[in-house]
Amino acid sequence: MEKNNFLTPLVEVRNCTMEFPGVKALSNVSLSLLPGECHALVGENGAGKSTLSKCITGEYQMTSGEIFVGGNQIKQSSYSIRESQALGIAIVHQEFQLMQEMTGVENIFVGHYLTQGGLIHWKELAAKAQEIMEFLQCDINLSIPVKRLRTAEKQIVQLAKAILSDSKVLILDELTAVLQEKEIENIFRIIGIIKKRGIGVIYISHRLDEIMSCCDTYTVLCDGRYVNSGNVKDISMPQLIKMIIGRDLNQVFPPVNEKTGDMVLEVRNLTAPKAFRNINLEVRQGEVIGLAGLVGAGKTELVHAIFGNHKITSGEVLIRGKPVKIKSPREAIKLGIGLVPDERRLLGLNMLFDIKDNTILPSMSKFKKFFAFQDHKEEAKAAYEYNEKFGLAYYSLWQNVKKLSGGNQQKIVITKWILRNCALFLLDEPTRGIDIGAKFDVYKLINELTKQGKAVVLVSPEMEELIGLCNRIYVMFEGAVIDVVDGERKKSDVIIHSLLGVSNNG
Ligand SMILES: Nc1ncnc2c1ncn2[C@@H]1O[C@H](COP(=O)(O)OP(=O)(O)OP(=O)(O)O)[C@@H](O)[C@H]1O
Ligand SMILES: [Mg+2]
Repeated sequence: MEKNNFLTPLVEVRNCTMEFPGVKALSNVSLSLLPGECHALVGENGAGKSTLSKCITGEYQMTSGEIFVGGNQIKQSSYSIRESQALGIAIVHQEFQLMQEMTGVENIFVGHYLTQGGLIHWKELAAKAQEIMEFLQCDINLSIPVKRLRTAEKQIVQLAKAILSDSKVLILDELTAVLQEKEIENIFRIIGIIKKRGIGVIYISHRLDEIMSCCDTYTVLCDGRYVNSGNVKDISMPQLIKMIIGRDLNQVFPPVNEKTGDMVLEVRNLTAPKAFRNINLEVRQGEVIGLAGLVGAGKTELVHAIFGNHKITSGEVLIRGKPVKIKSPREAIKLGIGLVPDERRLLGLNMLFDIKDNTILPSMSKFKKFFAFQDHKEEAKAAYEYNEKFGLAYYSLWQNVKKLSGGNQQKIVITKWILRNCALFLLDEPTRGIDIGAKFDVYKLINELTKQGKAVVLVSPEMEELIGLCNRIYVMFEGAVIDVVDGERKKSDVIIHSLLGVSNNG
């Protein structure tokens, strides 16, 4: 859909400036969204995308600027989430905002309970939730606590919650970052239906192929400033990348390291009921092995099991040829294993600590001075060096991590394990939510690790990433490894066939 200047925008932001103490997150940014339009909001980590979304939903009140909803100007001083919801603006946040102990149904309807004589009508709510699930064509158990759902399923519960309340504007802040190709297509299909109903979508994502195929219009932000906007069909992917990072990106994947050494990890017939079964795999020094598979294939559970964080019922894990029984992450760390988890907010960072402490935490012992004293100077130096490497957007190492942008938090999670100098890295979707420029820094870093003789297990939903980085790719389907792809067969169509459970023979 092209911009039609005669329609009244659903939302229009004019000259939005947003200042936090010490940080100007947005300066003079404008954006308008028409009915039935899917508008991409793009920019590097820390560019201000989530902040702009929160100004639109009333979570933040802009320092200066104007917002119009359906042509009517909003009074900033009293604007709130409650008011934006009443005006039909809904958001799915980048970080999970579900109550982990509550069921899917409870989460979807919290704040919207149907009551009769003070009693909540659970049956009706459950039926209504089921209706939404059917509309989304998803089959998710909504009667168990959401903490027992998988990441992608939680994401769909969040989406259901957002579209429940008759919204006119839907903001999706990196909704697809946790989803796989097949589910992303499902989301695109849903966006198509939503658009036909005249709803406008603001779509935030670092996966630019999605922007090119799903969005009508775009706005690019850089360091809190407006860079450009227009119709997606008028630009190419390289042009979009250039607007985002301010230069051409002609990087390619570094060549896969072929000089491999001793065996680091062997997994033999490893089984964990309901998660995976009879898994066999091995990784040598200098190797990257990939785990591919749809959501629910068991990849995350497998890396957590290796890290001592998921119960195993049978099978063996060998580290450097020796059988080990890893019962806790602490034991795994002692053996030289590091994990970058896929739910960084819950598992990756301590939100009460600052950047320096979060970066240093797993490698404290490296910075011991004498007795129980720490060499704080060296700690800060190392934290600084590594965070600079990734172009972390921050103003002080002593700044709390909680207020960093999502992608910048992810950069710290990676940094802290790299700094620790592990022998085996388990990376569960390490580049999720990271901007296109920094992604290539992560690729270079993974490659450097292999040259130093480290072993890497990489889980990724992006085929290109697996093919570009891995010596071998183990394809999982419903808890089992059903194919091992290497050499000539390392092609996306072969892997996609396998991960859908389709046989590649013949
Ligand atoms: N509540 C806050 N207090 C202080 N600074 C903040 C707050 N929220 C965001 N910021 C800062 O504002 C800037 C923009 O952050 P924002 O989260 O909007 O970026 P983003 O474009 O969404 O990035 P990402 O792609 O990593 O999610 C960052 O420098 C961030 O640290
Ligand atoms: Mg963000």
